[in-house]
Amino acid sequence: MSKPKQLKLGSIILGVGGTMSSWRHPSVPVDASVNLDFYTQQAQTAERGKFDLVFIADGLSINEKSIPHFLNRFEPLTILSALAAVTTRIGLVGTLSSTYSEPFNAARQFASLDHISKGRGGWNLVTSPLEGSAANYSKEQHPSHGDRYEIAEEFLDIVRGLWDSWEDDAFVRNKETGVFFDADKLHTLNHKGKHFKVAGPLNIARTKQGQPVVFQAGSSEPGKQLAAKGADAVFTGQNSIEDARAFYQDVKQRTLTEGREVDDLAIMVGIVPIVEQTDEAAEQRYQESINRIPITEALDVLARFFDHHDFHQYPLDEPFPELGNIGQNSFRSSTDRIKARARELGQTLRQVALEAVAPRTPFIGSPETVADTLQRWFETGAADGFIVHPIRPEDLDVFVDNVVPILQERGVFRNDYEFDTLRGHLGLPVPENRYAQRKEANTAF
Ligand SMILES: Cc1cc2nc3c(=O)[nH]c(=O)nc-3n(C[C@H](O)[C@H](O)[C@H](O)COP(=O)(O)O)c2cc1C
Repeated sequence: MSKPKQLKLGSIILGVGGTMSSWRHPSVPVDASVNLDFYTQQAQTAERGKFDLVFIADGLSINEKSIPHFLNRFEPLTILSALAAVTTRIGLVGTLSSTYSEPFNAARQFASLDHISKGRGGWNLVTSPLEGSAANYSKEQHPSHGDRYEIAEEFLDIVRGLWDSWEDDAFVRNKETGVFFDADKLHTLNHKGKHFKVAGPLNIARTKQGQPVVFQAGSSEPGKQLAAKGADAVFTGQNSIEDARAFYQDVKQRTLTEGREVDDLAIMVGIVPIVEQTDEAAEQRYQESINRIPITEALDVLARFFDHHDFHQYPLDEPFPELGNIGQNSFRSSTDRIKARARELGQTLRQVALEAVAPRTPFIGSPETVADTLQRWFETGAADGFIVHPIRPEDLDVFVDNVVPILQERGVFRNDYEFDTLRGHLGLPVPENRYAQRKEANTAF
């Protein structure tokens, strides 16, 4: 009998936190976003909890309205390379933009991370929502949402092609004979496309897990399509179990249509749990947090999804303003969701802004309540796993020490690591080298 599937867990490490004032909490080191010891401690806590991965988000443009974490933070691949040295099993996933990088650099950097970590590397492919990024990358204009996805698709194809430059056993390294590599097992990509021209080959070998794991974070139509076609995992934000199930069904169906298996793509939902000893205590903490947030701060956090649109110009206690196309060229799937929800529930601007900072999620409660919710989402087709965003550093300890043991007892989460690669943890297939595969196919006839 095959073992029942178990849910996946990741933790996002977000330095001084995800809001304007999170850095002021007593337990948050003021320099957490650029503090290696802090990142080490969080990654090691997640590894103690047998998490599949830690996750580093990123952005490429700041201004005086950005949240403090964005103003002064580590570049993802650099910090993940350091974390590779102080962890042994946990996956290491970092964000890199396909709009503002070169495929050769991306392929090389993630292959290096994957080698350094012995098969634990992952790339979160993003298309960059913020307009200001263009000015930092010698571009006149920020490409449109549609163009960014078109670029992303070509970019990902190239990166995967470069990762196959060398067949698995291409490096002979025979000191006696002086043969360093087998030329028949070295392949040149010679890509010439609409957005890129990349010859290859890549100057680094394939890795222990074949290729680094590719996450895609973007939930619009083209985002879902890109994930279904070429990603190994999706990072998504979902409001309710119903929305999450619909998204899950949709993306899995697209994956099948692309000729892949449903389990070739893991869907991981981002959550911000509040876990206290009792449901009442968790609810009280949530209410207190809502009451403490200055509304001006909430408006600025909301504005970021809309590329820093000025929400201060609208009345707070009237229906959420009609924004037309604003938001379409930034975090489109998120802004579409915010607008639709506001319309559906008749929310005021104040309510929408407060919800953007402190969403009322079903992951607020005692360890049992939160474990129940996670299990229900997992077992009823809303998610393959979750990426936990701890509000405060100690929230990760609370989750690891109180929620994880319940999931383990119920058999829905691993007691210990069974693999030492990220693909192994996530149950993802190791992609065969395309050239070796073709050779095998040719010799079969
Ligand atoms: C859950 C989630 C996480 C994301 N993380 C990042 C990130 O770390 N850095 C970034 O530049 N963009 C990030 N994005 C933005 C997406 O890459 C994309 O540019 C944006 O959401 C618009 O695409 P969409 O309409 O398909 O969602 C994220 C989006 C989502 C939904």
